[in-house]
Parts: sequence; C-alpha cells; structure tokens
Amino acid sequence: MTTVPSVSLHDGVTIPQLGLGTARLPDEETRRIVREALAVGYRFVDTAASYGNERGVGQGIADSGLPREEVFVSTKLRGRDQGYETAKAALRASLDRLGTDHVDLYLIHWPLPRLDRYVESWRAMEELLDEGLTRTIGVSNFLPEHLDRLAAASSTVPAVNQIECHPREPQLEQRADDARRGIVTESWSPLANGGELLQQPVLTGIAARHRRTPAQVVLRWHVQQGLVTFPKASSRGRLVENLDVFDFELDDEDMAGIATLADGTRVNGQYPDVWEEF
Ligand SMILES: NC(=O)c1ccc[n+]([C@@H]2O[C@H](COP(=O)([O-])OP(=O)(O)OC[C@H]3O[C@@H](n4cnc5c(N)ncnc54)[C@H](OP(=O)(O)O)[C@@H]3O)[C@@H](O)[C@H]2O)c1
Repeated sequence: MTTVPSVSLHDGVTIPQLGLGTARLPDEETRRIVREALAVGYRFVDTAASYGNERGVGQGIADSGLPREEVFVSTKLRGRDQGYETAKAALRASLDRLGTDHVDLYLIHWPLPRLDRYVESWRAMEELLDEGLTRTIGVSNFLPEHLDRLAAASSTVPAVNQIECHPREPQLEQRADDARRGIVTESWSPLANGGELLQQPVLTGIAARHRRTPAQVVLRWHVQQGLVTFPKASSRGRLVENLDVFDFELDDEDMAGIATLADGTRVNGQYPDVWEEF
C-alpha cells in the first residue's frame, strides 16, 4: 500500500499530502467512496458543509474501522454561516453530522468580500481552535488582500489556503504570497475536473514516457511542488491510480512541458474577488 508523505503546517500539525475530494457527491455515494479510499490507503478526506455530505464522510470513516486519529478530516464554513456566533454554531453542526468531536482542519470556504464577515468569522475560528473543536484553521479562495485584512486583525496565521490550482492555472503568484506568510497552499480541482486537460498531448506524452497515466503526471506535478491535494474519484481503480504518485519524478523538461499548458483557465469561472455561494 502506498505511504503518503506528510506536510508540516506552521503550527506543527501535519497533513497527508494527498487525500480524497468529495465535492458534488451525495451522502450514500460519499460513504462508499470514503470507505473504499480508506481501504486502499487514503488517510485524508476533504469535505464542506455546502457539499451536503458530511454525514456520508462520517459514516465512511466509521465503516472503515480506523481509529479517528488516523484519518485527517477537513471541512468548511459555508457562506450563509459566516459571522461570529453563526460560525461557532456551524462547526458544531458539522461535527454533529460527521459524528466526531473535532475536525483536523476547519476552513472559511470563500471570502465573500461583499458580505464582509470573514474577519469576524476568523475570530470565531480562533476560539473554536482554542476549544479543541478543530486541530488547526485555515482559509480557502483567499487573495492577498483578504489575507492582509486577517493579518491586520489577528495574530493567528491561517495554516492553509485552499485554492483552485492545476496546470491550466498554476497560481504562481498566490502560491508565492502564501509561502511568504508561512501558509501551505492546497490545490482544489487538481485535475481541472478531469476531462480535456488529461487529453493534452503534452501530458499523454510525458505519461507514456513514465509509463503512468496523465492523471498521475498531473498529481505528481502537484506533490513534487510541495502542494497538498485531494482529487475526487469514484471508482476503486482511480482511487488507487491517484494515490500511486510517490515513486517517480518529473524532470525539468517534463515540468517545462506542463508549464506550457498554463492559460489561466478556471474550471467554473470562480474568481474569489467576486464569486458568491452561500
Ligand atoms: N475550496 C473550494 O472552493 C473547492 C472547490 C472545488 C473543489 N474543492 C475540493 O477539491 C476536490 C477536488 O476537486 P474536483 O472534485 O472539483 O475536481 P478534480 O479532483 O480535479 O477532478 C475530479 C474529476 O476527475 C475525474 N478523475 C478522477 N481521477 C481520474 C483519473 N485517474 N483519470 C481520469 N479522470 C479522473 C473524476 O471522475 P470520477 O469521479 O468519475 O472518477 C471527476 O470527474 C473536491 O472534491 C473538493 O473536495 C474545493
């Protein structure tokens, strides 16, 4: 079974570098996929209140029989729950659905600058951390201007910033900004949702040379750059395939080839300065 390396966050918490994404999956399917993923070696599941499948995640973990402390669980504060009191209640509701007394990582899902509640939400997250309801806290889809505001209001630096990142949109500037602040960048939609990216001749060529699949080449591209990621996959075969990326290296020529795919395309046009979901 593949052993996934861990990445250390600035507060000493460690996170498996590769996990399972669960967006757009209903509870029952989530339960099955989480159970299968844990059986083949995954130890990190990313979910969110807005995915509506925290119960399925909790059931899948329970089915696995693994001790709770062996599985890293992250969930997220949705837009409608932003605010001081509402954020505190929201994590408790997530814990209830997950069937656990703490998560490992709690994230603000989107900054929603027009709503302007992420600073007070962060104050609640700091208290949830102090209360032990989460082991660490972070943000998602935050731009430098949002991180600046948090830094002005709080001495707690987010442990991670979870952003859209894949060869089409490698996010070089945001990643450098995160690193300068001591924040680990997590890549969401690491495969750019599968599909057309994985058919690009640059990737199929590199994959053929390494006797790997295009998806494995893209996931290797993430982990080789120190990113933390969690592709979503539905079949056992793909779950195994996506985990098996820790025993080969992309060379400079491979990395330069992949860099030619960067055209700034976002999978759903979700730009954090204007994107709103509640
Ligand atoms: N923070 C945020 O705002 C945010 C936003 C979006 C996503 N996320 C997180 O990031 C996770 C991953 O992103 P994502 O689910 O949007 O997209 P993704 O992981 O980039 O791609 C998932 C798609 O790729 C396919 N796929 C998986 N493995 C494959 C393989 N080996 N070969 C070919 N196709 C493969 C999957 O198909 P099958 O399912 O049919 O196998 C699925 O359609 C989410 O699940 C969620 O946890 C966070």
